[in-house]
Amino acid sequence: MSKRMPLVPALVVAAATLLGGIGNAFAVVKTMAGPPDTVVLQPSPLPGYQKAMTSCTSCHSAEYMQYQPPTAPRKYWDAMVHRMKTVFKAPIDDADMPAIVDYLTKTYGAERPK
Ligand code: HEC
Repeated sequence: MSKRMPLVPALVVAAATLLGGIGNAFAVVKTMAGPPDTVVLQPSPLPGYQKAMTSCTSCHSAEYMQYQPPTAPRKYWDAMVHRMKTVFKAPIDDADMPAIVDYLTKTYGAERPK
């Protein structure tokens, strides 16, 4: 009688489960009415929105953007973004600037929907 004991490996599925758990570290930030320091950038499908979230929110809230003249043209925002970088050392990649300026002009400036 040869009894073969099949080695049943304990299947370790735990590891996979753990990996799946690291999910939404980035919760969707909703715009809400509240004290000024909670003002967030207005969400937009424009690519510059995500870049602005990365480059423009570490020092001050989006209240600063809101209080710019609604007639501010693209050039104004371009100068603003450059000023943030040169004067305040904002960590903005030059390659991202056009997209950020585009988003700002279309969201807060002269090219926003009337
Ligand atoms: C490294 C910190 C820092 C980052 C990052 C930063 N800013 Fe600023 N920003 C400042 C400071 C400091 C002021 C206040 C300047 C003052 O009081 O004159 C300011 C002011 C502003 C203002 C108000 C207008 C003005 O002239 O003061 C706007 C608009 C603005 N920032 C937009 C932006 C945008 C857009 C970005 C991203 C491209 C950005 N900021 C990223 C530091 C930063």
